[in-house]
Amino acid sequence: MKICRAKDYNDMSRKAANLISAQIIMKPDCVLGLATGSTPVGTYRQLVEWYNKGDLDFSEVLTVNLDEYKGLTRENPQSYYYFMNENLFGKVNINKNRTFLPDGTEPDSGKACENYNEILRAVGDVDLQLLGLGHNGHIGFNEPGESFSTETHCIDLSEQTIKANARFFETMEEVPRQAYTMGIKTIMSARRILIIVSGEDKAEIVKKAFFGPITPQVPASILQLHRNVTLVADEAALSKC
Ligand code: F6R
Repeated sequence: MKICRAKDYNDMSRKAANLISAQIIMKPDCVLGLATGSTPVGTYRQLVEWYNKGDLDFSEVLTVNLDEYKGLTRENPQSYYYFMNENLFGKVNINKNRTFLPDGTEPDSGKACENYNEILRAVGDVDLQLLGLGHNGHIGFNEPGESFSTETHCIDLSEQTIKANARFFETMEEVPRQAYTMGIKTIMSARRILIIVSGEDKAEIVKKAFFGPITPQVPASILQLHRNVTLVADEAALSKC
């Protein structure tokens, strides 16, 4: 694993965006695996800035996202589709027909997951998979204790996550209880993985995930076995290593 030390969140974002840019420049029709959450926002902002300067062309890029809430439409501001549109897809010249997320509006979980697996199979190997890291070591929505050999599946969100998400919705009934996520097996099949982490609140889990034992209790620890992983983390996130 290569560890790239960044000064702070902005530096982490710029370094990560540099690696993604290099991928796009080297292979304009590359397949990017993308993440949502707060960590990649700065990375996407930097990519958009370079696109606006004329340094990047997304016209041939194809993307597959890690996850989506079950039951949320694309128009819902809490959906990951909406997030991707706001932060990246709506701001660069990507062909929307070449951007894929699990379909949160498909009520049949088996069907939603099989459809996404079919898309992933048809797309072929992901050239560069971007990941964030959950406080409990999750990647995508693969929570502690899950098998390392999963493909796309439906997960029940923990009570903790449901409560944390409640602030974004008017009523408790609207808060998603489930999500569709790419599995660890699929994530591990990417040619290259770029995981970005920022902040002191992630320092403990960075130490456990990348310097501790490989265990399903810390899903990200499996990344230690991938042959091409780059961790870009700021000093605060690396402060316990
Ligand atoms: C998002 C995702 C999650 C996040 C993780 C960290 O698509 O798959 O695994 O990367 O929860 O989230 P933030 O960046 O908000 O700390």
